[in-house]
Amino acid sequence: MRRMTLASTLLLTLNAQANAMSLAEDTYSHYVDDKGKISLPVDFRKTWSHLGSWVVGDKQAPGFGFHDVYTQPEAVEAYRATGEFPDGAVLVKEIRSVEQGAQTTGLAQWAGQNSVWFVMVKDRQQRFQGNTHWAEGWGWALFEAKAPKTNVSKGFQTTCLGCHVPAKASDWVFSRGYPTLLNVPQ
Ligand code: HEC
Repeated sequence: MRRMTLASTLLLTLNAQANAMSLAEDTYSHYVDDKGKISLPVDFRKTWSHLGSWVVGDKQAPGFGFHDVYTQPEAVEAYRATGEFPDGAVLVKEIRSVEQGAQTTGLAQWAGQNSVWFVMVKDRQQRFQGNTHWAEGWGWALFEAKAPKTNVSKGFQTTCLGCHVPAKASDWVFSRGYPTLLNVPQ
């Protein structure tokens, strides 16, 4: 009985590793070019996993809006097996406006127009040393709805580092907001 359990755990881990390898190939051929230029994944909401939501309700706050975070299903699988994001994992944080109105449930807020997308791409091979958008094991990019093909970030150091320091110990990711990464069915 115990041996079966170990064998199936091993199989699951190997499976997750195989998926993780094709994940890196996919990411570094579709979302990152050979110079390290990052593109915003198209239509990720349809096929990627939703990791979790944040809402910053204060209109004056820098992050006012709904923040929904997505990654590839293979990245979720690998994270659940190893506790780490695999090479090629792409995290997309989409910020949407806050709409409000009376519904039959009560006064409700919901996510309206999208405004910006923050993107992180896991890089376990230090592929783009010297490129300011690549640091600390990730590629970092920012896209605006008015021009979603242009990375408007000035680089990790200038645009991202300051705010992400509190998440340094969890590989720069604010993982407490992502129930999908936990190994629990509900
Ligand atoms: C104003 C502070 C701030 C800045 C600037 C900022 N971040 Fe974040 N980021 C956060 C916080 C806080 C969270 C999680 C909570 C939230 O969204 O409110 C987060 C979450 C994320 C997430 C979702 C995964 C995670 O780490 O939890 C991504 C992807 C992300 N940021 C990428 C970036 C990139 C890329 C840059 C630079 C271009 C950047 N961020 C700049 C504060 C910031």
